[in-house]
Amino acid sequence: MNCREAPRRSARGDIMISTPIRRLSRAQKMILSWYSINGRQGLPWRTTRDPYRVLVSELMLQQTQVSRVIPKYAAFIADFPTIQSLADAERTAVLRRWQGLGYNNRAVRLHALAKLVRDEYGGRIPRDYEGLRKLPGIGPYTAGAIMGFAYDSPAPCVDVNIQRVIARIGWDAKRGVSHDEIAEAALRLVTASRSPHEWHSALMDFGSTVCTAKNPGCASCGLRGICASKGARGDENDASAPQSRFSGSVRWHRGQVLRALLQGPKTVQELQSIKSADKELLQEAIAAMERERLIKLRGMRVILRNDG
Ligand code: ADE
Repeated sequence: MNCREAPRRSARGDIMISTPIRRLSRAQKMILSWYSINGRQGLPWRTTRDPYRVLVSELMLQQTQVSRVIPKYAAFIADFPTIQSLADAERTAVLRRWQGLGYNNRAVRLHALAKLVRDEYGGRIPRDYEGLRKLPGIGPYTAGAIMGFAYDSPAPCVDVNIQRVIARIGWDAKRGVSHDEIAEAALRLVTASRSPHEWHSALMDFGSTVCTAKNPGCASCGLRGICASKGARGDENDASAPQSRFSGSVRWHRGQVLRALLQGPKTVQELQSIKSADKELLQEAIAAMERERLIKLRGMRVILRNDG
């Protein structure tokens, strides 16, 4: 950080204890100034104000790292530049473009949502938070992200990075903090900001490059003077931990099954001969995909479905 601050002192020279909100308001200015110099460049979803494109990026980013999403997002938008084009596409084409991102249910949900918006909303994504929340599969975070990143409007938007940064700066780890307290602080901060787009971008970048889950850069952080935690936390179970790609997971097997079926129907036996596949995990993957109506079984043949 380039903006160090000494702790505030009273007239008598005692260090003044800030409330979480006061501390966070001061931190907000410093994070914004850090962001103006150090913000991540080259994130293509940051330069669009199209709610459809923001939605695509947010769904991709939900469980996948930024570096993996960048090329996939570009290819997806090249194939499906509008919500209408996505709604009109075949589901297999959508899944094909999603390949490599994993958690393919996200693609199925996105496709279904595009069809719903085309058929029932005249192709227009709602412009208000409540309207967005009514859409299936759009939770509080995604609705808040669309409000901020597409419409530059203040709305609650708390992902794991934002939650961690606000909790650490505002509250001493020993005291702890509830989700509601963080949500309230987050809403106050975004409401006070000049631009929700800029503020959420700054918080996310600060959280993923300085105030990281496992190795926060407290030693050189300019917020040391006001942060309630100052390196007291190194969260073990943080959801932003890097993803592993181990082949011992049902997720890996689902990806392999999908990849094989995008080439054409296969027998169960053929799927079992996928390199490094485990029989039981493969069965589990097939059963889950069938339950979710991604695939169907015809005798011993497994077929990718094109309908919901
Ligand atoms: N910019 C907008 N949304 C983002 C996200 N979910 N992660 C990282 N950067 C973003």
